[in-house]
Amino acid sequence: MDKLVIEGGHRLTGEVRVSGAKNAALPILCAALLTREPLTLANVPHLNDVRTMSALLSQMGVRQQRHDPDGITLDAAHIDWPSAPYEMVKTMRASILALGPLLARCGEARVSLPGGCAIGLRPVDQHIKGLQAMGAEIDLTHGYINARAARLTGASFVFDVVTVTGTENLMMAAALAEGETLLENAAREPEVVDLANCLRAMGAKIEGAGSDKIRIQGVRSLGGAEHRVMPDRIETGTYLAAAAAAGGKVRLTGTAPESLDATLEKLREAGSRITISGSSIEIEAEQRPNAVGVRTAPYPGFATDMQAQFMALACVANGTALITETIFENRFMHAIELQRLGADIRLEGNTAVVKGVERLQGAAVMATDLRASAGLVIAGLVAEGDTVVDRIYHLDRGYEALEKKLGQLGARVQRIG
Ligand code: EPU
Repeated sequence: MDKLVIEGGHRLTGEVRVSGAKNAALPILCAALLTREPLTLANVPHLNDVRTMSALLSQMGVRQQRHDPDGITLDAAHIDWPSAPYEMVKTMRASILALGPLLARCGEARVSLPGGCAIGLRPVDQHIKGLQAMGAEIDLTHGYINARAARLTGASFVFDVVTVTGTENLMMAAALAEGETLLENAAREPEVVDLANCLRAMGAKIEGAGSDKIRIQGVRSLGGAEHRVMPDRIETGTYLAAAAAAGGKVRLTGTAPESLDATLEKLREAGSRITISGSSIEIEAEQRPNAVGVRTAPYPGFATDMQAQFMALACVANGTALITETIFENRFMHAIELQRLGADIRLEGNTAVVKGVERLQGAAVMATDLRASAGLVIAGLVAEGDTVVDRIYHLDRGYEALEKKLGQLGARVQRIG
């Protein structure tokens, strides 16, 4: 199993181009199921999660062609098998995003229930309730969601909790439903907006994406389109946090700065100088970072997907920071690993009290989920000596060419088998 060996203690300097957003690409790939015509996408990241989604769509009968360097055309003229089997869903929970589009297009869908994962229970009850409100008949048998609806009908649905993929699933289903759907307490994440933009290019009638009320006027059919996937705000934030922790001067290009307000504000609070110019963000971090607390919240609040990286930053900051996780119930697994590197962290329920230390020391650590791994990599970059991060398949799910990009910034990172 691959590991990363990180030689800590080097400042980061240089320029890196960020990739397309994983969490925008995954729903947008599923949107191809809604039309018989080709959907051509650009800025699709080369990631394991994208490959898994692509394999899942292939199994359903969706033809795909990759174009250099980061394009893909999907052709779902025929869907032979409207199903997402357990083997796929267990490796990637985002497979649930196929449920809404399959049901809307084929009148039936069979998608495995995801089950829990390392960061929490992660139920999909809101996806199911929303589709039921639109007239779907759903039963859960043998670990599968079996859904049927001759044609979905528009409905008003208020989410009990803000859910990103839940909002995306229902928005896609509603695009082909009969009549109007109103989604309230919807997720406002930029990835929801990116999906809505793609659906609109395909002929969907959607208003309000980016607010907590999304109105969708269903249409009979959607057409082909071309769409460029938005930049990955979490990848961007991860490199920025790495620079803030390690010190140096890093320029990230091809970003969407407007999607990063909460992260940028926290980095400024940590003492970094941030300069935005068009789609580039430059960070300069000259001194040891100040301790900054974060509390995760749905967008536009501080992203849970940035929590582990900011915990790593807090580990070497000047002072004590409170890191509170409100979205997932078990997203502190990195804290135990960070302690192995010499971090001073005390867990109190969903809050981590992190007292910054002058230096971490390299050690062997284990990645538990995607963003936890990113936190460990950042800690490794600032630790004394070598840090070996095991189970980096988690990183490959969501960070394109991580060691190459870190190398471009002067970090010494090596992948070993
Ligand atoms: N929830 C329910 N019922 C539901 C759906 C969600 O109770 O039917 C709860 C969840 O258990 C959680 C909260 O609502 O406590 C928010 O979960 P959400 O549904 O928003 O998460 P998600 O859609 O499954 C997406 C991202 C995650 C990111 C979260 C939160 C994708 C493919 N995944 O997951 O990304 O952490 O939103 O922003 O978009 C990652 O990239 O590493 C990652 C985990």
